[in-house]
Amino acid sequence: MEDSLLLNRDTFGNQANLGQLMDVEEARQLLNSWVTNEKLVFHMLQVGHLMKAYAASKGYDEFTQKLWHLSGLLHDADWDQWPEQHCRKIIEELEERNQDPRMIKAIASHGPKYFGVDPDSELDKMLYAFDELSGFVHAYSLMRPQGYDGMEIKGVKKRLKDKSFAAQVSRDDIADASQRAGISVDELIQFVIDHQLRG
Ligand SMILES: [Fe+2]
Ligand SMILES: [Fe+2]
Repeated sequence: MEDSLLLNRDTFGNQANLGQLMDVEEARQLLNSWVTNEKLVFHMLQVGHLMKAYAASKGYDEFTQKLWHLSGLLHDADWDQWPEQHCRKIIEELEERNQDPRMIKAIASHGPKYFGVDPDSELDKMLYAFDELSGFVHAYSLMRPQGYDGMEIKGVKKRLKDKSFAAQVSRDDIADASQRAGISVDELIQFVIDHQLRG
């Protein structure tokens, strides 16, 4: 299974399309037509929201915030209908739509051990880091009577150590992403707690 998702490519999109991005509304329409699983849509909304918030926290300009936002919003767009072609399908779609190559590259490297593409830029690394952690913190919020209220790093870390909790979330990927981004898991968790879009 893992091998079949390898992209076997190292260039994505066209440099001539730098600076070219669809509107958020167009991205939402793409999600509406491709994704029927509401949980998956919500996951992408959450990751998109975190990406945008992180870019804003760094003081990046509006275009860059949109670049980060859309990368999160679209990263799993093909998972629902074409899991065996994840994330080849969305990459090809965004290439056809002449989208900024930085977004396409970020999506291509959001799971290095599955797609065989290393995250290089800060955008790539943060998408990889927020992807699994966002889902994990969301799962944790659902089992807490108070949801996100009063959530602390130590509670999240306790669940990370409990391998039976949200077992599909790869602890190795979280550790690897944190190391690649050069940001501690604690710091990433705190950012997610503070900025996660709530259901
Ligand atoms: Fe994915
Ligand atoms: Fe994801």
